[in-house]
Amino acid sequence: MKKINLLILSCILSFSSVTADEGMWLPMLVERLNYVDMQKEGLQLTPEELYSINNSSLKDAIVRLGRGFCTGEMISDQGLMLTNHHCGFGAIQSLSTEDKNYLDDGFWAMDRKDEKPAGFPVSFLKRMEDISNQINTELNESMSENERTEKINELSTTIKEIAIGETSLTAEVKSFFNGNEFYLFLYQTFDDVRLVGAPPESIGKFGGDTDNWMWPRHTGDFSLFRVYANNNNEPAPYSEDNIPYKPDHHLPVSLNGVSQGDFTMVFGYPGSTNRYLTSPGIKYELETRQPTYVKLRRLVLDIYEDEMGKDSGVRLKYASKHAGISNYWKYFKGQSEGLKRLKVYERKKSTEDDLEKWISNDAKRQKEYNGVLDGFETGYTNLTDINKIRLYLNEAIFRIEAINYAYNFTGLKRALVEENQEAIKKEQDNLLKSLDGDFKNYDKTIDQRIFTAMIRAYSLDIPKKDQADGFKKLVAKYGNDFEKMATSVYAKTVFSDKEKARKMIEAPSVKKLEKDPIYAILKSVFNHYLENVKPKIEKETESLTRSERLFVKGLREMNSDIVYAPDANSTMRVSYGQVENYFPKDAVTFNNITTANGILQKEDPNNIEFIVPAKLKELIRKKDYGQYADANGELIVNFITNNDITGGNSGSPIINGKGELIGTAFDGNWESMSGDIAFETTLQRTIGVDIRYVLFIIDKFAGASHLVEEMTLVK
Ligand code: ARG
Repeated sequence: MKKINLLILSCILSFSSVTADEGMWLPMLVERLNYVDMQKEGLQLTPEELYSINNSSLKDAIVRLGRGFCTGEMISDQGLMLTNHHCGFGAIQSLSTEDKNYLDDGFWAMDRKDEKPAGFPVSFLKRMEDISNQINTELNESMSENERTEKINELSTTIKEIAIGETSLTAEVKSFFNGNEFYLFLYQTFDDVRLVGAPPESIGKFGGDTDNWMWPRHTGDFSLFRVYANNNNEPAPYSEDNIPYKPDHHLPVSLNGVSQGDFTMVFGYPGSTNRYLTSPGIKYELETRQPTYVKLRRLVLDIYEDEMGKDSGVRLKYASKHAGISNYWKYFKGQSEGLKRLKVYERKKSTEDDLEKWISNDAKRQKEYNGVLDGFETGYTNLTDINKIRLYLNEAIFRIEAINYAYNFTGLKRALVEENQEAIKKEQDNLLKSLDGDFKNYDKTIDQRIFTAMIRAYSLDIPKKDQADGFKKLVAKYGNDFEKMATSVYAKTVFSDKEKARKMIEAPSVKKLEKDPIYAILKSVFNHYLENVKPKIEKETESLTRSERLFVKGLREMNSDIVYAPDANSTMRVSYGQVENYFPKDAVTFNNITTANGILQKEDPNNIEFIVPAKLKELIRKKDYGQYADANGELIVNFITNNDITGGNSGSPIINGKGELIGTAFDGNWESMSGDIAFETTLQRTIGVDIRYVLFIIDKFAGASHLVEEMTLVK
């Protein structure tokens, strides 16, 4: 009898411990906030082994790509770095030519000499520090939000200078919990990063846009780079003399795979979440912001896809642009659907109602939180129309590449007006230096079509009263015939033609610039934005900022027993959870792993997204998986966990309880696309590539076993 009771009890206990863990936590605070929990769930490392500033720890193997567009991890003591294929995509595309197309065919450096400059830097976090006290003691409630910001910036500058001292580190101060807390971060940045290996797109992007943001998945979304340093293991600009960087820590790689319920940890650089968004904000997202993104991006993608289908040169040129625009087209589409399906507005509203009651129950609170919730209503109401103009500026006007390019000439124009010879020379030099790059991936036919579609959208969707006079006049001149307008503009402008642009750079004049129709449109629309739109947005945003700050403060005070996690903000975070299947809808279970058999099931030689390379097919048919097979002789391709991640986490290591690498995170799932705004405990999943599939592709598919040999394998 007693035994049975114990059994039931342990069932209940183990069941209740299988919860999805919301929160991307600061590694420095894990010991205080999460460690007990993590240990219970299966972590076998000490807090010091996760994050330490005195000894090497897991954090030293984690790498920020660029300013945080993705994450990577050190997987050998020779600077070898693993990230996603879609993170390396821009570099791979940029290193490709029609003859040597590494997107189509993959790239493998069989020798260190063949590793190629990636074109982006990587940074290691050296340490972080809570500076909330230093900043908050200098702030007070009588300050306006702008005064606060000014004060914060001023203090941050000093704090950063002191922290950097004589070192070559860079420093950043970031606000947490919407301006309630502040942390300092110190980074060491390496510029010499080289491409080492990438599978063909048919593996690295298998499933394409159709499978993007979806489970079940069968994608080998990984690529390999190497970080180079000088002879002292310090950052240095690219040089043939540089040698592979020796990191303070690299992740051992486990061949033991994953099972349901296994502890998992993800370290990385999540970009941004908006978990404290309030109901008026949701309304704005659903009615204005997201539909605008979806509509304008679809227009762009249709044109890209049409032209890319006609010409393989154009396809290569636009591959990276297309991938980026498409990724967030689908993201916003899914986010809108998710917000509605999961009743996020209603859930947020009910939290706000609780807070409102809590505030009204106490005179002191009434004073401190005066007008906070109403501030959201008014703020978003006043911002909606005006923000739409900014959205159209970014998503329509600046999507026109010639306009985007013309923007680079504004400095030159200023220098010409000021007759500042030195500045003119400098602007000319810069423009000439970047000229080849600026036109490398440019296609005039596409751009002219984009111009037609975007100018039409701007002209028809933005109320006439909110359009610049110059712009309206130009459109009227062509009798609202946008195609005719585009033909004429692109016949005249210099900004859609490399040689004409070169001539403008070499012999510039204010008059010539102003007469250029692309420059004229840019000037008219952008000046209108600067004069009529930006100031209004700034004014409304200031009161919203106050509401946001006090909303989060109030929420944390009201629910003081809950440990809230800060929104993602491109700083290093750790999230923890477990390998976990899910139930997307009634009667349907999604298993937590996919196998290579599914690749053959999805294969479609007539659909570019689902082509399977012959060699891979052969290996799968023969089940020639070597040491990378699981206990059943199958090859696991992808798996899911309930870790909390977001964009920027792409390429992040998925680490087991012993600190070993088991996979790399690359996506989220369709059922929880609203997760950046409200975490969905039962639905939200991280999709990762099983590290054994990565090794299998490197070793068996590409024959680059020398790369596997430099890793530390755990069997
Ligand atoms: N949705 C993924 C992310 O944002 C990117 C996946 C890239 N793959 C693709 N088929 N576009 O992290």
